Amino acid sequence: MKRTIYFDYNATTPLDPQVRAAMLPFFDEVWGNPSSIHQIGRRARALLDDARDRVAAGLACKSSEVVFTSGGTESSNLAVFGAARRLRNKGRHLITSSVEHHAVLHCFDYLERKEGFAVTRLPVDAEGRVSVEDFRHALRPDTVLASVMAANNETGTLQPVAEIGALCRERGVIFHTDAVQVFGKQPFASIHEFNADLVSICAHKFHGPKGAGALFIRSPLQPDPVQFGGAHENERRAGTENLPAIIGFTEALERFIRVPVFEAARLTPLTERLLATVQTLEGVHFRGARAARLANTLAFTVAGTDSIALLAALDMEGVCASSGSACSAGSLEPSHVMLAMGAPKAEANALVRFSLGRDTTPAEVEMVAGLLPQVIRQVQRRSS
Ligand SMILES: Cc1ncc(COP(=O)(O)O)c(C=O)c1O
Repeated sequence: MKRTIYFDYNATTPLDPQVRAAMLPFFDEVWGNPSSIHQIGRRARALLDDARDRVAAGLACKSSEVVFTSGGTESSNLAVFGAARRLRNKGRHLITSSVEHHAVLHCFDYLERKEGFAVTRLPVDAEGRVSVEDFRHALRPDTVLASVMAANNETGTLQPVAEIGALCRERGVIFHTDAVQVFGKQPFASIHEFNADLVSICAHKFHGPKGAGALFIRSPLQPDPVQFGGAHENERRAGTENLPAIIGFTEALERFIRVPVFEAARLTPLTERLLATVQTLEGVHFRGARAARLANTLAFTVAGTDSIALLAALDMEGVCASSGSACSAGSLEPSHVMLAMGAPKAEANALVRFSLGRDTTPAEVEMVAGLLPQVIRQVQRRSS
């Protein structure tokens, strides 16, 4: 049988069997609408309220500060649009970084193009890090909102969000962080560690279901809603709650966040082993941070090739990798993250990202380290 090696845990993770088991009753036994006032609805409501309390306990915040959403994209859209629009009469200047996920970047583009906001997009260094000093200099008297991600999905680079958040608080600026990639990967005790008013979380990045997540909204902030209808989620997110997904999210959060499911001590030597191989190859450049990084992620570019050819060649060998965010994996657009980090344009669409996880074995890593030089040489030869 042909082997399959999954090195794409930053794109998504398999649903944990125990999380799945916790979800199952919510597809049949508990099927009521939590907004119905009869007993079937009230049962669903009680379990929805209970899930919110459990998530709040896991995050160390108030239950009223948790809004259930359909995942990372929706959480970040609600955070950025909701806060900017709520604060528009106070100021029209916004700050973000040039390496955010498109779920954040495209919101800022829209606010700038269509709604009269001015946006500063901060540069990053060669490791993909925003400078706190640059951030401080970007602050203006009319700055109302900033958004900087906690860890980058393409490179695994960690951002100094706690320091940026503290600066924002000092200056009365609302701060959002897209923390989708750090939950389950970095030690976590409390949502307040980010010093953020808004934090995006997404279940399928830590063995929960797809289409589930939350936005932490620090009280008393009330972002404008982006979705209108019923009074669900305390009038912050209209639409009947997806209870099976919410239960799966809650279960995964309880199981995999406090003790990160991505074990750094086990994964660091594995990504280091792959890095050692990458560094021996001609035309191959490591792209990321050596110290402040997610232990499971390794990104590199291959001069004279492109991501699609590289990923296809790896796939032929049974290796599932990615070129960055899953949504741009099928396109030849140069990675905005690579460009921001100073990669030459020709290499910005020749990115490979390996992201390892719970079921990755040292044997798989050895296998990939063994076949990588040949696969890369082959693609380089064909491309030239
Ligand atoms: C950093 C980051 N933000 C947001 C998202 C979007 O999450 P989703 O597609 O599940 O809504 C992702 C997914 O890859 C991500 O990595």
